[in-house]
Amino acid sequence: MIFPSPPDVLGGPELKAFEINAQHISGSRFLQIGAYTGAATLWLHSRFPEAEIHDVDTWTGSPLHPEQCSDRKWEEVTSTYFSRVKDIAQIIPHICTSNDFFASGYVDFDFIYIDGDHSTEQVWRDALGAWSHLRLGGIIAFDDYHHIKGDVPRKAVDRFVSGHNVVVISDADLIATQNGEPRQRWVKRAN
Ligand SMILES: C[S@@+](CC[C@H](N)C(=O)[O-])C[C@H]1O[C@@H](n2cnc3c(N)ncnc32)[C@H](O)[C@@H]1O
Repeated sequence: MIFPSPPDVLGGPELKAFEINAQHISGSRFLQIGAYTGAATLWLHSRFPEAEIHDVDTWTGSPLHPEQCSDRKWEEVTSTYFSRVKDIAQIIPHICTSNDFFASGYVDFDFIYIDGDHSTEQVWRDALGAWSHLRLGGIIAFDDYHHIKGDVPRKAVDRFVSGHNVVVISDADLIATQNGEPRQRWVKRAN
């Protein structure tokens, strides 16, 4: 499948990391926090065509950090996403914040990809939300792990990993970034 570039933000390196780590995914109920134009959604659907994919996004950016993705035209982002998924029954969009989604009744996901608000505090909340909606043996994948300074996902991810019974999947750690850090952090729930 060809993934057009603009206005996508997900590019070749992230998809390469997905490709390498995908062997660890099992089951058929997936959740993505932050769907944007649906690039990861389409990748997941092409690789796991039978899986139910729940996409959660405000499609207006982060309520707390409106500066994130602020160079994008949300109308274009939204229309790209919905035109891509409209005929795919397995893809289920939820137009809401991740906090609201995690407060709802959906549970038992096999794979959860966290790529929404990138602040440390919100990634921490998303990680805890994901943990309570993840089945035993399920996987959480965090994007943008390579940023190491400031208000970044990594601080929440490291805190989460050290406080929960998870196994780190490091197969794709060599999909390095300019600073040589792993682009994503994938973890498997041990109990
Ligand atoms: C980096 S983009 C996601 C990229 C996407 N995974 C892909 O495959 O292209 C981040 C997305 O998260 C959404 N977002 C930010 N904060 C959110 C929140 N608190 N709840 C739900 N979605 C949020 C934004 O609207 C934006 O579309």
